[in-house]
Amino acid sequence: MNTPQPLNENQPIGIFDSGVGGLSILESIRQTLPNEQLIYVADAAHAPYGNQTDQQIIDHSLRVCRFLLDQNVKAIVVACNTATTIAISTIRAIASIPVIGVEPAIKPAVEQSKTGVVGVLATAGTLQSTQFEKLSNLYGRTAEGHSVELITQPCNGLVERVEAGDLNGPVVTQLLEQHLQPLLDRNVDTLVLGCTHYPFLIETITQITGSTVSIIHPGEAVAKQVERRLESESQLSPTHNQTPIQFFSSQANKTYRLRFESLLKQSITLNAL
Ligand code: DGL
Repeated sequence: MNTPQPLNENQPIGIFDSGVGGLSILESIRQTLPNEQLIYVADAAHAPYGNQTDQQIIDHSLRVCRFLLDQNVKAIVVACNTATTIAISTIRAIASIPVIGVEPAIKPAVEQSKTGVVGVLATAGTLQSTQFEKLSNLYGRTAEGHSVELITQPCNGLVERVEAGDLNGPVVTQLLEQHLQPLLDRNVDTLVLGCTHYPFLIETITQITGSTVSIIHPGEAVAKQVERRLESESQLSPTHNQTPIQFFSSQANKTYRLRFESLLKQSITLNAL
């Protein structure tokens, strides 16, 4: 258990993912909360998390969170569906600060689906978790009580393609076609991106699904949740923090830094974890 320290509204917010996927959440947070100082950690040496055991995912997540707690963050955003569904309760047990996770956005998808058929793309780890089962049971029907068909699709291979910087090449396009076709065959009209790496594939996904399928990206909802939590703790930074975002990775080489830069469209310094 980390020693609780008095919270200070000028402390940074820590955000982490197994790799670059959480940058899709970081973008939303920096737009919604421009005053905040941010620290981002990619646990690239251990990515992808999605095919590992629960214990491995918990161990990796705790290691990163301990690092963030040492940086004196005032909140942790688990910008990874897999780590959220499997490790968030263990993280909360060691952190005496707000810990906000990312879960597949089934609720808004069910609310907006017209065909009553919703597709969920996620890692195998997320889809097999008991937390995902709870979410599906809780939100898998409309406000009027009609049940909605939730079609889940484990997307093996996609995290690795995004980590390798392949957002629209032939390999990732073929993988996406394989993963999406069964959902299109079932008349899905709404697609939940249940992994934070997938928003970087939206253009390629849309080329395959066409524009009639709505795609739900969780970034904005997560950023609003971070804002609400910090507001309720009186921890929102009142003034603009000039410190640039600090980026860390458990695998910090030039190639990986360039990956960050091309996704963020800005130059960065990538520090070793
Ligand atoms: N971005 C992570 C997620 O949201 C990827 C998990 C992985 O590393 O497999 O699930």
